[in-house]
Amino acid sequence: MINVQDNIPTTDPVAIPEKRAVIDQILEENRNLPGSVMVILNELQAKIGFVSPAMQGYVAKKMRVPLQQVHGVVSFYSFFTTEARGKHTVKFCMGTACYVGGADQLIEKSKQVLGVAPGHTTADGMATVEICRCVGACSQAPVVVVDEEMHGRVRPNKLQQILRKAQS
Ligand code: FES
Repeated sequence: MINVQDNIPTTDPVAIPEKRAVIDQILEENRNLPGSVMVILNELQAKIGFVSPAMQGYVAKKMRVPLQQVHGVVSFYSFFTTEARGKHTVKFCMGTACYVGGADQLIEKSKQVLGVAPGHTTADGMATVEICRCVGACSQAPVVVVDEEMHGRVRPNKLQQILRKAQS
């Protein structure tokens, strides 16, 4: 269970006055609509870019609904994200060919270089790391995609150089 009332990070939109004003406005404008919680979460995703645990707690409190209900909606629909996305996206293909070709070693190396596991964004907000399915370049396995650029036959010792593109 998430406990969002305590220890809200200072970087969370709920803790930033301008962002909090946007959240309050969304709550105010939509609170009486049918399906209001879903509408509000959608608006938050669109205008803030994600729905953090603290934002979920804030919505639950203001709408007087159980936190689990809000959390359930956010976890059920894949278009909701709970963290800010980075400036860049690094995707590791985990399709069969890439897996067999050593994608897991690349992911391990990436954790060392960027400091985050797949599904997360680096502390400096530069890169979001993700796992993806086959990107259709199996003959080039293992494949890493940085933003729109595909890199094939990536070896762990070459990864750091590729990841530099996602660090500035
Ligand atoms: S499995 Fe990675 S490109 Fe096909």
